[in-house]
Amino acid sequence: MPDFPIPQQRQLDLPAIQALAAPDMAAMDALIRRRLASDVVLINQVAEYIIGAGGKRLRPMLLLLTAGALGHHGADAHQLAAVVEFIHTSTLLHDDVVDESDLRRGRKTANAVWGNAASVLVGDFLYSRSFQLMVELERMDVQRILADTTNTIAEGEVLQLLHVRNPDTDEAAYLRVIERKTAVLFAAATRLGALLAGADAATCEAMHRYGMALGYAFQIADDVLDYASDTETLGKNLGDDLAEGKATLPLIHAMQRSDAATRALLRGAIEQGDAGALPQVVAAIQACGSLGYSRDCAQRYARDAAAALEGLDDNDFVAALRGLAQYSVNRDH
Ligand code: IPE
Ligand code: IPE
Ligand code: MG
Ligand code: MG
Repeated sequence: MPDFPIPQQRQLDLPAIQALAAPDMAAMDALIRRRLASDVVLINQVAEYIIGAGGKRLRPMLLLLTAGALGHHGADAHQLAAVVEFIHTSTLLHDDVVDESDLRRGRKTANAVWGNAASVLVGDFLYSRSFQLMVELERMDVQRILADTTNTIAEGEVLQLLHVRNPDTDEAAYLRVIERKTAVLFAAATRLGALLAGADAATCEAMHRYGMALGYAFQIADDVLDYASDTETLGKNLGDDLAEGKATLPLIHAMQRSDAATRALLRGAIEQGDAGALPQVVAAIQACGSLGYSRDCAQRYARDAAAALEGLDDNDFVAALRGLAQYSVNRDH
């Protein structure tokens, strides 16, 4: 597929990456289990429900692999990896309320089972639990990164809200939203991994660039999958973005390339958040080559991510990070 292949350097495939990360991931998972608990029953139920459904655990894996690439494995990395996954999970609980989604990780969403109030409040619990775990490390540099990151994510979510049902959302506005709502957390994960490893400023910066580019690639791929996958594989409903009136890259591209009649149809579908128009919207997206365009765009970001690793001493963990850049765009869920 790729028009912009990642330079031919050694990269691991997903099973090899998972095997390499397994010991650190297991330690992180055990910590998540220990620190999820509350004596409020509903919190345990909802938190267990969404965390127990799994998910790819990509952000903590990035933190742990980055630390590993720079020779660091330790309890502090496991703890921060758990922090990053808690933050991610809390944003999912909130996101599914805002997006009115009813399927996630192959299960009914928490809001579909327990309602919006429980989802928002347990999301807040996970958010603040992540900050409890974070301050235990007593590192102001870490706290500053995570405080800034979570604040930026919130800005991204609100910025996205402002664009909902707006058919004039352009590619630049789209990219501004995905940087804030998604990419900054990836960048924080990889920067924190480098920081814990005691890396110099230039290396921390390079790992930040890697995470940021990978985050863009990952969200663009997610927005392609929303039109191009199937519910079973994705574990989420297709067409959620259209139903919410979200103009993502495939739709933005199709709007630019369509004839006047099709453009009017797409505008109307975005303005109404009309899930019923999904078949026509998919047809327009296909006719315009918009999925290919978006995949190429994601692939360019993945290549930028891999390029950011060039200054590192090569080892298995660096090869795993290169592999994850590719996986982020080639994944099927
Ligand atoms: C979903 O993230 C939210 C996006 C940024 C697209 P993931 O696809 O990493 O979700 P899980 O954790 O694997 O379920
Ligand atoms: C996810 O965006 C962004 C955050 C959770 C911060 P999406 O709305 O595209 O994510 P999914 O598709 O619901 O997982
Ligand atoms: Mg969503
Ligand atoms: Mg999505």
